Amino acid sequence: MKNLKKISKQKQRTYEGESDLNIENADMIICRCQEVTLKDIVQAIAEDATTVNEIKRRTRAGMGLCQGRSCSRLVRKILAEHTGQKFAKVIPGTFRPPVRPIALSTLASLEEDTDDKS
Ligand code: FES
Repeated sequence: MKNLKKISKQKQRTYEGESDLNIENADMIICRCQEVTLKDIVQAIAEDATTVNEIKRRTRAGMGLCQGRSCSRLVRKILAEHTGQKFAKVIPGTFRPPVRPIALSTLASLEEDTDDKS
């Protein structure tokens, strides 16, 4: 129960704008796939990155296996906090859907759709 209260309080602080995404936690990993830290992202913002895509290009955050599923919201939040924008105003970056390679034999074994719709 104590942990739930702690989590709830943390969640509320996050929604209210407070978060642990300050420079005291500089080594916090933001993008697990590319091992990008909070410090890397703040550095990119300090070097005039003003969009999520610019941060992505400079740090590779969001270019990992999950294609930003885990980190894209955090990157937006950090950008919002460090540029004084509202989270909703920060345009999300462009992310490709994760794709998995499949064997050509799998494609070849698919039945052809024979329904003639004309
Ligand atoms: S956690 Fe950033 S791309 Fe996967």
